[in-house]
Amino acid sequence: MKTILFAVAALMMTACCQNQTPTEEPLASTPVVHNEVIELPAPDLTRGVNISEALQNRRSWREYSAEKLSMEELSGVLWAAAGINRPENDHLTAPSALALYPITVYAFFEEGIYRYEAKGHRLVRVKEGNYMAKAGAQGFVETAALNLVYVADLTPYNERKFPIAKAQYLCGQDAAGYAENVNLYTAGTGLKSITRGGASPEVLQVIGLEGEQYFFALAQSVGK
Ligand SMILES: Cc1cc2nc3c(=O)[nH]c(=O)nc-3n(C[C@H](O)[C@H](O)[C@H](O)COP(=O)(O)O)c2cc1C
Repeated sequence: MKTILFAVAALMMTACCQNQTPTEEPLASTPVVHNEVIELPAPDLTRGVNISEALQNRRSWREYSAEKLSMEELSGVLWAAAGINRPENDHLTAPSALALYPITVYAFFEEGIYRYEAKGHRLVRVKEGNYMAKAGAQGFVETAALNLVYVADLTPYNERKFPIAKAQYLCGQDAAGYAENVNLYTAGTGLKSITRGGASPEVLQVIGLEGEQYFFALAQSVGK
């Protein structure tokens, strides 16, 4: 009996230590190909420093190199912003007032604008071409590898007869949660980012969103 207990304990120790051994393998770094649909790899949940270190590292960056994000980094950024972390109810990594999830994340690259689809964890092209300048007026916006634009569809609030100011306020709060998830992800993985309140007045038009129900909630630059 004793021998069996020792054997079980030894097996548990081995399993436990194998899980804790840090991998020495370099992280995958696949270049992004800007096809009509960018199928993102599953987020690497082992990546990054611990949450306390990420909080210590968090700051706003206004200088970016020309280096692009890899597929793995892009996957991590979008999953942090608005990825599904509970498939049983499709709830996201970020909270949302009344669980209405009115925000859609648009990713602006030099190559084009893409809409993030949490279901399927992919980016779908909305428009080809470089519209980075529409994602913000500051000079660094165009130099960052990626700009995220958080757009709310106010329809679920309108249906509930919320006053417009309250609806816009709550959408801004939702977007801030998405953006802060990204800020912590970048701070924890050696990337850079900044939350931004401003974008061109034409940003919705450029994305192709014409109705009055669309509300620009927030923007964010991400890069290296
Ligand atoms: C809602 C929001 C909007 C912001 N908008 C801008 C902006 O448009 N441009 C900018 O350079 N910084 C912007 N910032 C970043 C702040 O300026 C920054 O957080 C502040 O200076 C503190 O610096 P830190 O983030 O490095 O701690 C924004 C931050 C928040 C939370």
